[in-house]
Amino acid sequence: MILKIATYPNKILETPCEEVGFPVPDAVRQLIKNMLETVRDANGIGLAAPQVNKNLRIIVVNLEYAGIPAFALINPKVAWSSKKTTEMEEGCLSIPGVFGMVERPEKITFSGQDINGKIITARCGGILSKVVQHEIDHTNGILILEKIKKYTQGKELLKK
Ligand code: NI
Repeated sequence: MILKIATYPNKILETPCEEVGFPVPDAVRQLIKNMLETVRDANGIGLAAPQVNKNLRIIVVNLEYAGIPAFALINPKVAWSSKKTTEMEEGCLSIPGVFGMVERPEKITFSGQDINGKIITARCGGILSKVVQHEIDHTNGILILEKIKKYTQGKELLKK
């Protein structure tokens, strides 16, 4: 099922999310399925639960075009990040039409849990690192609007 995406300035986007307990209820399994379907349908590269109006620490990453199978991560955290930072142009499905340059650590080690509660941890760089950081920010109620150093598109759309 394709879910409705919450858009800025919806307050849920700026509210820190709740940890998910295990075993997860069926509703969470279904939510993750729906989030994967929704991010693909929207041609997005990542999506966090608050963007579909669920105040839960769940993210999905959809980088299939880059050869990375789509995956979900529950209770995700950045466990380590490189001192070196790089800038990348970012957008957000919840802030349609707005893009800007965001500076973040180049590499991270992220950790989290899969649907069965198994710990997943990986060190990564490149686009995967940036997407995971962007989505983890969502679970902490942080939007790219707080981090954009220079808008590249759509700044005028932000007038409330
Ligand atoms: Ni986003």
